[in-house]
Amino acid sequence: MSRIIIFYSRTGNTKTVAEEYAGENKTAIYGIKDLVNRRGFFGVVKSAFQAVLKTPTPIDEVSIDISSYSRVILCTPVWLGGIPSPVRTFIKKYGQLVNKVEYIVTHKNEKKDYRKTMKEMDKLMGKVHVREAHVLITGKQKN
Ligand SMILES: Cc1cc2nc3c(=O)[nH]c(=O)nc-3n(C[C@H](O)[C@H](O)[C@H](O)COP(=O)(O)O)c2cc1C
Repeated sequence: MSRIIIFYSRTGNTKTVAEEYAGENKTAIYGIKDLVNRRGFFGVVKSAFQAVLKTPTPIDEVSIDISSYSRVILCTPVWLGGIPSPVRTFIKKYGQLVNKVEYIVTHKNEKKDYRKTMKEMDKLMGKVHVREAHVLITGKQKN
């Protein structure tokens, strides 16, 4: 089975999780490239609004052949309980090329699970994920 972990990360937490997964499972890895500056406090505010309003946002063209992988592990943070806008764009643009999909979600709120977010990702992707994992990130939120 050929697998790739595709991640989006604003401040590095999800990237670390994806890199650890790729190292342990010997899978390929690819980072979604956001074309919007989301640094600092205003970056957080912009991201929060875009997540809630489901605003389209530009990402760089994906340079891998997604359909050549039998399974994609999509690794993403949650923003305001929802899908980060760059991940939303990725799924809308490339979701139909994904064969089987798994999700790894990173988050800070230990009291919530993000099944609703994953259901929405399934809907956008046009398929139901075959596996899921949550990774609770501890420590101070980076801006
Ligand atoms: C705009 C914004 C909204 C967030 N909303 C949530 C949330 O609703 N629940 C949660 O547990 N964490 C939330 N977080 C925290 C991130 O999901 C968490 O820190 C994640 O690991 C960040 O990943 P990254 O460092 O790869 O960008 C939010 C972070 C940002 C920037």
